[in-house]
Amino acid sequence: MNQNISLLGLQWGDEGKGKVVDNLANDLDAAVRYQGGHNAGHTLIVDGKKIVFHLLPSAICHENIKCYIGRGVVVSLEALFSEIKEAKEVLGNIEDRLTISPACSLIQPYHIKLDQLRELSNNLTKIGTTGRGIGTSYEDKVGRRSIRITDLYNETKLKDKLEQSLEFYNSIFQHSFASPKIEVNELFDINLQQAEELKPYVGNVIEEIRNLQQTGKKILYEGAQGALLDVSLGTYPFVTSSNLIGGIPAGTGISPSDIDYTIGITKAYTTRVGEGPFPTELFDETGQYLAEKGGEVGATTGRPRRCGWLDGFLLSNMVKVSGVDGLCLTKIDVLDGLEKVKISTDYISHATPSTLIETMDIEEVKPNYLELDGWSEPTSGKTNYEDLNENAKLFVDKIEEIAGVPVIMISTGPKREDTIIREKI
Ligand code: IMP
Repeated sequence: MNQNISLLGLQWGDEGKGKVVDNLANDLDAAVRYQGGHNAGHTLIVDGKKIVFHLLPSAICHENIKCYIGRGVVVSLEALFSEIKEAKEVLGNIEDRLTISPACSLIQPYHIKLDQLRELSNNLTKIGTTGRGIGTSYEDKVGRRSIRITDLYNETKLKDKLEQSLEFYNSIFQHSFASPKIEVNELFDINLQQAEELKPYVGNVIEEIRNLQQTGKKILYEGAQGALLDVSLGTYPFVTSSNLIGGIPAGTGISPSDIDYTIGITKAYTTRVGEGPFPTELFDETGQYLAEKGGEVGATTGRPRRCGWLDGFLLSNMVKVSGVDGLCLTKIDVLDGLEKVKISTDYISHATPSTLIETMDIEEVKPNYLELDGWSEPTSGKTNYEDLNENAKLFVDKIEEIAGVPVIMISTGPKREDTIIREKI
């Protein structure tokens, strides 16, 4: 039985995870975020109203699903409270449906400030972050100096830790950036107020998950970002600061062998926000066509997304490293009307494929493309695989062949019902 299901994007984020979660929701009892922070963006339409969640699991929209934020997530309380407020307006009270681990590291204002100052300083460290203090908070986590949620409930410890942190950060702000300091007392008071507001949501996440596992409940582990942004397996250094699939046990406390089924999500083409290599990027009118037709604007930052063909070389590798069992193919309808569609199968490069994969050093490569005939008969809004035109089916076949796993779901449009389910998990 598939009881513990993981779901993750296999590209550079924005693969359409929110919609896939929405489609699985009827069969789920719980959903868990385990990595990242409010750098993620899941756009959902609830009762005709558009909501973008960054930190809350996107399954929160479904009132029968219990949601968790595991210890691997870095939490901005300001962002959390504003999302809870927005969610409450549409969904009512969510207090009994959301539990947050006390072991989560916090994102403090100095993390955000340093992230932004570094990016603005325009030196070699600029990678086009979301500017939300994600990487800087994880730096404190691995540096073993994070302020965690649990520390909010010990005033002496909290004050000491804030003083130590600010000594460190204020010296950087003043000496490296000639920027004003952050005052400890003000920040301490804000932290104490936030601690009170947070209290009803803090709980023993791993114990609750184990109870759910023991009673045969279905749990979804929602990956944010995408596998190519994994700090260890992605296109380093142009990555986020957490681990995707490998982050599940560390970010929740479950055993690595608990995951029964992994769903990988890929768009029918590729997009990327921020800096970094993108071998199949298009700079021509086809790229523009994909951007316009696909509405490719970042859900978190509003930045335009770079667009290109589907990269089969990276896809097949991300399927392997993530242990994907089945693929969801999203936005196939965006390709409707193109005369030709392309998928990169490998690269022309001086490095061997295995070295490329080991280092993800793909700055200089050129893709080798498989060119397929496009289709004029729309896939848009189709709900049956049999109703897809032959060329679109051939495109899906090729993806399965390259990735080595079945395409179990195809999204043919933005609405929940614009979906082809080929295999129910
Ligand atoms: P950070 O996660 O804010 O540190 O940003 C690091 C890189 O990851 C930047 O290129 C961001 O644009 C990218 N990134 C972070 N979160 C997302 C996401 O949810 N979707 C797409 N890209 C993301």
